[in-house]
Amino acid sequence: MTRTTNVVLLGSTGSIGTQALDVIASHRDRYRVVALAAGRNTELLAQQASTFGVPPELARSGLDDSRSLAELASLPDADVVLNAVVGFAGLPATLAALEHGKRLALANKESLIAGGPVVAKVRGAGGGEIIPVDSEHSAVYQALRAGNPREVRRVLLTASGGPFRGRSRAELERVTVADALQHPTWTMGAKITIDSSTLMNKGLEVIEAHELFAVDFDRVDVVVHPQSIVHGMVEFTDGATIAQLSQPDMRLPIGLALGAPDRLDQAFGAMDWSQVSTLTFETPDLDAFPCLRLAYEAGRAAGGAPATLSAANEVAVEAFLGGRIPWLGIADVVQEVMQRGTGNVEDVDDVLEADRVGRGRAHEAVERRSAA
Ligand SMILES: NC(=O)c1ccc[n+]([C@@H]2O[C@H](COP(=O)([O-])OP(=O)(O)OC[C@H]3O[C@@H](n4cnc5c(N)ncnc54)[C@H](OP(=O)(O)O)[C@@H]3O)[C@@H](O)[C@H]2O)c1
Repeated sequence: MTRTTNVVLLGSTGSIGTQALDVIASHRDRYRVVALAAGRNTELLAQQASTFGVPPELARSGLDDSRSLAELASLPDADVVLNAVVGFAGLPATLAALEHGKRLALANKESLIAGGPVVAKVRGAGGGEIIPVDSEHSAVYQALRAGNPREVRRVLLTASGGPFRGRSRAELERVTVADALQHPTWTMGAKITIDSSTLMNKGLEVIEAHELFAVDFDRVDVVVHPQSIVHGMVEFTDGATIAQLSQPDMRLPIGLALGAPDRLDQAFGAMDWSQVSTLTFETPDLDAFPCLRLAYEAGRAAGGAPATLSAANEVAVEAFLGGRIPWLGIADVVQEVMQRGTGNVEDVDDVLEADRVGRGRAHEAVERRSAA
């Protein structure tokens, strides 16, 4: 008989969180939810706790105190921590899960991007492991099974191109929040949907791939693939490229991250090949979508640069969603913040400082723009 895996789900009320519960609900014999955490949606959280039999003291919301998330991530009976919180708020839970030797099913990319060097130290020392939930990294994780690490020539991440694919910079001057929230292939939370429209999401994923798979930035490429069927690829030294294909459905990578190397016995996103006629691939337009270039630059600069970039981006995206800056202003704000330089990162305090600097400068840049 297989042992039940105990899951701590952080960010349970969000897009990833609710899809994770969907996966768990159809695999009750395999998974048990032992704790839940959310931000403001207390009603849904209470409903989830009741459905999955989580005691009220382990279903926590409104967690401004980051220790509480870390406490849940290090519960002794947790086998897997699924971190699906949005933004930098996910970092303490990422660190706590790895420090306590847990499997970390990681959706919260911001924690790995901001805290890369610190997360790497803890990951090595604490005995924990990271299994990516992001569909592109899950695809790469799956493709990597086809060879050994020294045979990897490059990693390719696909991007749908978002709602503004094919538009020039001039055509992007007047796009609205509603336009930017219309993702062509994925239904996701607001922040990541805006990040997808600017290609910052793909830039963050490039840094995430570097951290997860230890490939340098010259060997991580982005290809625009509007159908979102091929999620990621690995090219090996003998010229073979191995790709993972499925319909866009996050329940597939979530299910794999919970149970890897085992796969679920229920299919999510399986292909119907009679319905697919064309798969196309294009080079991203870095003039119209400068956030991708900014992310490569921050990744190569290393140290505090990715943390500052990610923090500045969070502030800029919020300002855009609040109608305070235009869509093109997101990249402008991030660029302005990054031009002022960034520091080094040795420990968590340095990450917090790099984040604080990014936020502070981005708020100033937003203020100036919205006052103008
Ligand atoms: N959605 C996708 O398809 C997708 C794909 C790949 C990667 N990701 C990544 O996964 C993460 C989550 O994305 P999402 O789209 O699921 O976002 P989302 O729908 O906005 O959900 C975010 C979740 O985090 C919770 N939360 C926010 N601040 C919190 C805090 N301080 N403490 C505890 N919980 C907090 C929210 O709670 P309330 O709603 O209750 O306030 C919600 O449950 C992001 O890092 C994103 O980049 C998402």
